[in-house]
Amino acid sequence: MIHDMTTLKYSIVLLLLAVTMSLSAQTGSFVNGQLWPATDGEHINAHGGNILCHNGTYYWYGEHRPYRGFTTEKGIAVYSSPDLKTWKNEGIALAVSTEQGHDIERGCIMERPKVLYNEKTRQFVMLFHLELKGRGYDAARVAFAVSDTPTGPFRYLRSQRLHAGVWPFNMDPQQQAEAMKTRAEDWKEWWTPEWRREVEKGMYLWRDFKGGQMSRDMTVYVDDDGRAYHITSSQENLTLLVSELTDDYQDYTGRYVMVAPGGQNEAPCIFKHEGQYWLICSGCTGWAPNEARMFTASSIWGPWQQLPSPFRGVASGFRNMPADKTFGAQGTYIMKMRDRLVFMADIWNPRHLSQSLHLWLPIQFEEKDHKRLPVIEWTNEVPY
Ligand code: GAL
Repeated sequence: MIHDMTTLKYSIVLLLLAVTMSLSAQTGSFVNGQLWPATDGEHINAHGGNILCHNGTYYWYGEHRPYRGFTTEKGIAVYSSPDLKTWKNEGIALAVSTEQGHDIERGCIMERPKVLYNEKTRQFVMLFHLELKGRGYDAARVAFAVSDTPTGPFRYLRSQRLHAGVWPFNMDPQQQAEAMKTRAEDWKEWWTPEWRREVEKGMYLWRDFKGGQMSRDMTVYVDDDGRAYHITSSQENLTLLVSELTDDYQDYTGRYVMVAPGGQNEAPCIFKHEGQYWLICSGCTGWAPNEARMFTASSIWGPWQQLPSPFRGVASGFRNMPADKTFGAQGTYIMKMRDRLVFMADIWNPRHLSQSLHLWLPIQFEEKDHKRLPVIEWTNEVPY
């Protein structure tokens, strides 16, 4: 009898385990802070990217990172999913070139790719941060590629700096004259109040005016009217630029503004909620996590007002990483998922970049001083 009871209990436990396992296979078993295997069994190797929904399928684009090393050996990866849970590895959407001296020669650095779908041209347009092979982070360029299909292969178009010879449209002639008096080469000591004032006047904008503005960490945003914008860390990562793209999303119209000059914002992520724009950025500490920054504006052109970080609490169950370290992560994209907004981030693993973890957290809103403010708390469960 006792023996039978034990067998029965054992069988029930096994049955429950089997049911749980089959359910989690169906629903996807990814929890924040763990490796997330695609259907090929390998951790999703798409970092610093974005997710685009096209004809009912989700496409996840990102940096394909090596297990060891730092530079781009393969290109930009793409995965597809019917439900955001199960991801199929679709290979490399934009491959590095084997041609010596090519902009995207193997060994260059391709970062933070973002893909947009252009309704007018019916093309997929990819923008990404490009650093040329062997030049560290010196080139600071944006690059463009296009494809007729979401999984590519994308055709590389070009890389460039931004707005050579063009002033931000909101700088009047007097402000332009002030900027032209600045001399970046004279400021050996950074972070003094005087230096900061010069940065605000546009000292680095003027330094790079002729050759074009730097562009590193970046995102893109398509507004309700179909207009697209490129938001990038410029001027030695000190100042963000918001720039309007042309109708085909493959170039700049020339309309742009500086945001938070001297604020050192990286990893920009943007969303719009009830007519208000929100920008969540990181500070500038390489792979190491830091405290996020938040800005809001009623127009994409600003003025952008800075507010405290929206992150709150600790990552319980994940190294107890605190909110003031963005739970150990750095943002990459804010995705609209049906009626929810999800903050996507990378938990970088600089020793093995391909193993960097993904973090998806829902954005909630809280009433404060008659304003609805975004709040992001840790959760193990992924908000599919
Ligand atoms: C981070 C940046 C990443 C990558 C890294 C390299 O600050 O957000 O995209 O460039 O630095 O150290």
